[in-house]
Amino acid sequence: DRSGISFRPGLEGVPVTQSAICDIDGMQGRLAYRGYPIAELSAHSSFLETTYLLIWGDLPSPQQLRDFEAEVQMHRRVSFRVRDMMKCFPASGHPMDALQSSAASLGLFYSRRAIDDPKYVYNAVVRLIAKIPTMVAAFKLIRKGQDPIQPRDDLAYSANFLYMLTEREPDPLAARVLDRCLILHAEHSLNASTFSARVTASTLTDPYAVVASAVGTLAGPLHGGANEDVLAMLEEIGSPEHAGDYLDEAIASKRKVMGFGHREYRVKDPRAVILQGLAEELFARFGTDEMYDVAKALEAAAATRLGPKGIYPNVDFYSGLVYRKLGIPRDLFTPVFAISRVAGWLAHWREQLGANRIFRPSQIYTGAQNRTWIPSDERV
Ligand code: SDX
Repeated sequence: DRSGISFRPGLEGVPVTQSAICDIDGMQGRLAYRGYPIAELSAHSSFLETTYLLIWGDLPSPQQLRDFEAEVQMHRRVSFRVRDMMKCFPASGHPMDALQSSAASLGLFYSRRAIDDPKYVYNAVVRLIAKIPTMVAAFKLIRKGQDPIQPRDDLAYSANFLYMLTEREPDPLAARVLDRCLILHAEHSLNASTFSARVTASTLTDPYAVVASAVGTLAGPLHGGANEDVLAMLEEIGSPEHAGDYLDEAIASKRKVMGFGHREYRVKDPRAVILQGLAEELFARFGTDEMYDVAKALEAAAATRLGPKGIYPNVDFYSGLVYRKLGIPRDLFTPVFAISRVAGWLAHWREQLGANRIFRPSQIYTGAQNRTWIPSDERV
């Protein structure tokens, strides 16, 4: 390479920005947002408070939080034009594709690219945080041929989302567990979708395009899409006594075990530890899920087979079991991840603009040189 910098596939270990948002200690299994340990935030904070913290750097004052919550509540509805557009989507389409398209469509309504104006930034944050859950819930009903349910102003953020999704007012424990899940998924440094968000942000495009590009990136099975695949895998294994054989077979055929492994962690992801606890809280209250026994057996079997390589459950391993107990359909697991990660993407959008330089890395050219064009009838 002419620059003298060695090529690192997947940019492993290559710092591509400075950031004050999120700190991961992958050897100790520690994660903190803006200096606050994730266990503390997920126990005591709310998703909207954590969103404020991530985006503006400090916990809000009581008045700032009340204002932010009220603004988000006021902007939950989406235009009938967006709903009508969603009615044209194929009902068989994946909800992540529907979300990417509808998130991008918000730019048609609100894009002024006045990204230096703090009021524009605040309003864009409010709109995206408020409307993404409404769009996810709307597509769930639209694809069944139903009209979407309007948000309910007397319900807090996560309770309202569950209400729009399940068409029933949720149990307070279920709403709190979902809110805690959203806190846990809100931010995770330079993961692929956040990197995508920062690259898009660096062109000075609007925040709706930033979020839409990140949603598309999150959808893949190596990233957020894994939470959906984990349940399919657990069902394929079927019962705890088959976990070891499944693992041996996957390792022998070099297949990735979904919900395991992480570029940053060499131990169990601290979010997986908390999510497993949340799953157990739900099971104690609403009845267990037989796939939980399969998951635990798989984790135990993996400890000896993959543990020595530093491969342990990641955030996606237990989240699906939690979401399923909350009544969330499987193909909405990744959209729920997206609802939460919008907070992190927007925090990185703002941070990127604070010290912007367009992302434009280099490559090592490995193709042909100095070829001469020949007419097609002379080609063999
Ligand atoms: C998320 O980055 C983030 O922060 C992401 C995330 C977030 O909050 O944003 O935490 C969310 O995306 C979680 C990850 C969800 N994906 C999966 O669960 C899919 C399965 N896991 C992987 O494919 C993998 O572990 C990744 C994608 C998560 C990480 O990939 P890396 O860092 O590029 O690692 P690798 O694929 O190069 O693997 C290194 C070694 C290989 O063995 P060797 O060839 O060196 O012998 O570890 C093995 C791999 O085969 N390995 C696995 C494995 N993960 C890694 N082997 C079996 N099963 C796995 N899951």
